[in-house]
Amino acid sequence: MFRLASLALIVAALGLSACAADAAGRNQVAGEITVTEANASVARSSGHFGYGQDASEAEIAGWDIDIRPDGVGLPPGGATAEDGEMLYEDQCALCHGSFGEGVGRYPVLAGGEGTLTDERPEKTVGSYWPYASTVWDYIHRAMPFTQPESLSDQEVYALTAYVLYLNDLVEYDFELTQDNLASIEMPNKDGFFLDDRPDTNNVACMSNCKDPASIRITSSPPVTEAVEPEVADPGVAEASDGRSIYEQACALCHAAGVGDAPIPGDASAWAERISAGREALIASALGGKGLMPPKGGQVQLSDEDVAAAVDYILELTAN
Ligand code: HEC
Ligand code: HEC
Repeated sequence: MFRLASLALIVAALGLSACAADAAGRNQVAGEITVTEANASVARSSGHFGYGQDASEAEIAGWDIDIRPDGVGLPPGGATAEDGEMLYEDQCALCHGSFGEGVGRYPVLAGGEGTLTDERPEKTVGSYWPYASTVWDYIHRAMPFTQPESLSDQEVYALTAYVLYLNDLVEYDFELTQDNLASIEMPNKDGFFLDDRPDTNNVACMSNCKDPASIRITSSPPVTEAVEPEVADPGVAEASDGRSIYEQACALCHAAGVGDAPIPGDASAWAERISAGREALIASALGGKGLMPPKGGQVQLSDEDVAAAVDYILELTAN
């Protein structure tokens, strides 16, 4: 609340200072603002340094929309999951799925209980969120994604009830209200706690301590003997170069056929291209072709590197 109020103040101040520059632009001399009718409100300003004004009650109310876990901040109202079902289908299911299963990569809203300690936990409203109040707050504040704050309070109650219902946390005909929302117990309510671990592992030394003058902070890496790299058989090096260049610079498109990049080994995709000759293929790889940028986008590669990668592709395709 305090944070939001001061934020509103800053925003109000910024808005007005911008106006001051506009309205007073012509009259402004070295930081001095002449008062005209257009900028009179600036002169009346009550904020620090003479800029801005205190945020009004209405401005603060616009920002002060958080709902606390104990339900403070909830507007009067109430609705059931039944009330929310059609609305959810209309406005939410296209992204979150009819059962909250999530469409594509949009967030999953239901399920996932008991997965939080898995390697890939499924964090949903039901499995992860500690307070039901956050569901109301979040939907009201941020959803639907493309039209935040477009829902009425009643609609938010109905959708909150429906999302809780999808998580088996309320019955279909349970009326979720301003008075009972805070009493809904979320499965993961005890999963959050203040991290009380100390900032460092060291215990403060109070007696018989190390002489501070003997302590050095070092950041240079330990010096080790330089090792001469082994000289590999040049023939082998060339072959493996083409492969490693292909893997780091070309495979991201060619291995999966991104943007219709011809896949090495796919003889029909390559037949016609190969008939143009190795030099032509290298020229394409160097200069780019269609959706392929020059050198596959990695301009730091030498021409020989790119040619080696082309040879590697040809080798994979010939076999
Ligand atoms: C256009 C797609 C879209 C639509 C429609 C949509 N949402 Fe969302 N929703 C999202 C995206 C994207 C996020 C994640 C936003 C983020 O993390 O910043 C999200 C997040 C959420 C979350 C939080 C999920 C979590 O675990 O963090 C809830 C709850 C939610 N939406 C409910 C709704 C409801 C209720 C509606 C219908 C009024 C709705 N959404 C409509 C895309 C959508
Ligand atoms: C961003 C994706 C992308 C990357 C990265 C990429 N390519 Fe391509 N490549 C393509 C596409 C798409 C085509 C088909 C272009 C066309 O015919 O329009 C193609 C075609 C080619 C061809 C055939 C050219 C011809 O004349 O028919 C060769 C050879 C080739 N790539 C080699 C490489 C090499 C070598 C690398 C790595 C240095 C590489 N590509 C990296 C997307 C990519």
